[in-house]
Amino acid sequence: MSDPHPLAGSLACPACRGDVDLAAGAATCTRCAKAYPVVHGVPWMVEGHLGAEDDHFETVSLDVIHYINHHKDPWRLFTRGVEEDALAHILAGLDGSRRVLDLGGGPGFYADRLRQAGKEMVVCDLAKHFVMKGSLLFPQQSYAMGDATTLPFRDASFDGVVCFRSMIYVKDLPKALKEIHRVLRPGGRLCFMDRNRWSPLHWWKYRTGQYNSTIGEFPFYFTQPDLGRKLEAAGFPDTRWTGDHVCFPLLFPIPSLMKPGLRLKASQALARLLPRFSFYLVAHARKP
Ligand SMILES: C[S@@+](CC[C@H](N)C(=O)[O-])C[C@H]1O[C@@H](n2cnc3c(N)ncnc32)[C@H](O)[C@@H]1O
Repeated sequence: MSDPHPLAGSLACPACRGDVDLAAGAATCTRCAKAYPVVHGVPWMVEGHLGAEDDHFETVSLDVIHYINHHKDPWRLFTRGVEEDALAHILAGLDGSRRVLDLGGGPGFYADRLRQAGKEMVVCDLAKHFVMKGSLLFPQQSYAMGDATTLPFRDASFDGVVCFRSMIYVKDLPKALKEIHRVLRPGGRLCFMDRNRWSPLHWWKYRTGQYNSTIGEFPFYFTQPDLGRKLEAAGFPDTRWTGDHVCFPLLFPIPSLMKPGLRLKASQALARLLPRFSFYLVAHARKP
């Protein structure tokens, strides 16, 4: 007999929230009988074709893959320090969580690092080429194609959820936050890390329309008060805030050349000094 699918018992139908049966290698809703394809072991839990939107994410995502994969790229010298510090922030936010969902995790590079730190990881992303590529690169973690606003998981399936640089692309953030709340168990942790509109660099880019010009409907940046209100409305009453300053180029031109401990300390000190102006906003929330 073959082993059960690692997501058996945790999937829910994005259309009606019925339990999904994965037993026969296909994902079929036990309530509305809707069937979702399971491609090379990855359930594609989205309704219909995503069309242009999916194509858009594939383009955006290829850039991400490019910089993650090209270790010799000079940009890498800059980003490596940022990635290490992001992981430190995320791990601190997941305190005690065992089973963790990386939502909008792309191909799952960060999930893999968290898995190495002892977490049981599930990656959910809307871009199918990301989840497919990731499932080949990192077979030790589970993948599902799914939308943050209609998560294909049962209630209370996770001890922790990570959203790193992904929610800026979600048009209906309040809906996604409610979904995150639903799939977390009581006491579960959310670590949310994304671009801060009030960081000087982002503020300037925002003002000059550098990101928003291409896809204007997406929020693309967050501010602490606005995100705080949305988290509270979704059922996360007390969020702990911190920030990541490290990649603000004028302060740390090449973060990778600094010792990691020193870099993180410097970033944390700056976050205390200038809590609202960090490059990334980091929110650590807990479902009561
Ligand atoms: C910039 S990438 C970040 C990937 C990864 N978290 C990282 O930091 O390397 C943004 C990711 O969010 C995903 N995404 C965007 N909208 C989404 C949605 N509604 N539901 C799930 N994933 C989404 C995209 O497909 C993409 O992989």
